Amino acid sequence: MPVSSFDITRVIRPNILRLEPYRCARDDFSEGVLLDANENSYGAAYKSNISCDNGQICVEPQADRLQLHRYPDPKGYEVKQRILKLRPSVAGVDNVFLGVGSDEIIDLIVRITCQPGRDSILITPPTYGMYKVVASINDVGIVKVPLVVEDGAFQLDVDAVIAAATGDSSVKVIWLCSPGNPTGTILREADVRQVLDSGFGGVVVVDEAYVDFVRPERGESYARLVAEYPGLFVMQTMSKSFGLAGIRLGVGIGGREIVSYLNRAKAPYSVSSLTLDVAKHALSDEGIQKMRSVVNSLQAQRDEYLIPKLLQLPRVGAILGGNDGNFVLCRFVDSNGNASNEIAKRVYTEMAQNRGLVVRYRGSDYGCEGCLRITVGTADENKMVIETLRNVLSEEED
Ligand SMILES: Cc1ncc(COP(=O)(O)O)c(C=O)c1O
Repeated sequence: MPVSSFDITRVIRPNILRLEPYRCARDDFSEGVLLDANENSYGAAYKSNISCDNGQICVEPQADRLQLHRYPDPKGYEVKQRILKLRPSVAGVDNVFLGVGSDEIIDLIVRITCQPGRDSILITPPTYGMYKVVASINDVGIVKVPLVVEDGAFQLDVDAVIAAATGDSSVKVIWLCSPGNPTGTILREADVRQVLDSGFGGVVVVDEAYVDFVRPERGESYARLVAEYPGLFVMQTMSKSFGLAGIRLGVGIGGREIVSYLNRAKAPYSVSSLTLDVAKHALSDEGIQKMRSVVNSLQAQRDEYLIPKLLQLPRVGAILGGNDGNFVLCRFVDSNGNASNEIAKRVYTEMAQNRGLVVRYRGSDYGCEGCLRITVGTADENKMVIETLRNVLSEEED
C-alpha cells in the first residue's frame, strides 16, 4: 500500500475510536501534597531494606525510595526515555508503549483492532502460541499462512500472506515473529517490506522478543522501519536478553497513533513502580553493557558449543532454523534418518522425569516434526544437556 494511505480510523475498532479514556489522578498533577488518588499517606505497610540502586544492597527502605504508597507513573516516562537510548532509531517517547510483558501488548493490540465475532488475525505457523490463545479469548478468528519450512528455512510465504490478508477484509492484524519462536529465525527484510508495501490496510506486528540475540551480520530490529510505515508495530521485551522475565515488562514501538490508542485502552497503572524501577536500572549504560556481554557469552555457547556438540550426537538429524534466538530447535531422527516424534517425546520425557533436565517438546508444531526446543543455558547447563542427551540417546540405540 502507498504508505500515506494507511488510515488508523479504519484499523481501530469504532468503540475504541470513540473511547473517552479513564483520566487518572497522576495525569493531572504529580507534585505537591497529593490527596487526589485515595492513596495511603501514612506509607507502605511493608518496608524492605533492600534497594537495587547501582546493583548494591543498601539500607534505604525501598518502599520509601520508590514511594510505593503512590500509584506508579502511568506513562513510564523515564523508562521510555532509556528505551530511546537503547533503540536510537525510535523517534520519541510517543512511539513507545509499555505493557505487562509482551503478552499484555498482544492482547491489547487484538482488543483495539479486532471486533469479537467478526474480525481475525493472520499468523504464520510455527509461531508463538499466545497469538492464537489471545485471539480465541477475544473471540477473534485466526487465519493461518504457514512459513516455508522446507530445509528448516522458516521464512514467510510472502505471496500467500499478502493474498490471505488483502483478500479477506476481516484480517486486521498480521502477526510476524522475528526471530521466530520456535523457529529461531530472523525474517528476511525484503519479505517484511513486501508485506508492508502490499496494500494490506491493517497493523503488521513484528514480535522481536529475541532480537538482541541476532548476530548483526544476520539482521537487525525492524524498529527502524516504524518511521517509514505507520502500520508497523514492533514488540520487544525485558524478559529475554535483559534476563528480567520476572518483572513483566514488554515494550511496543510503533507510530504515535497506534501507541496513543493502546494507551487509551490500557489500565492506567498496570506497570508497577517496582517494574519501572528495575527496568530503569537495567536500561542504564551499565545495564545495557551487562546485557550485551551476557548476549555475547550466550551466542558463543550457542554457536561454538551447544550446536556443534548436539550435531555430534546419535539420532540428532539437524538443528533447524537460523539460530538467531537464545534457543535451538533440535530434530531427532530414526535409524532411517526420518524425523521422529516418538524419539523426541521419549527423550523429552526421560530427561524431564528422570534426569532433572527440562526442555520443550515442539514435535507437534508445523514443520517441527521430531523437534525439541532447547534454551541455551550457562556453560554448565549446556554441558549437562550434552551429557544427558548422550546418555539417553545411547540407551535409545541399544
Ligand atoms: C515470541 C515471543 N513473544 C513474546 C513472549 C512473551 O514475552 P513477555 O515475557 O514479554 O510476555 C515470548 C515468550 O516466550 C515469546 O517467545
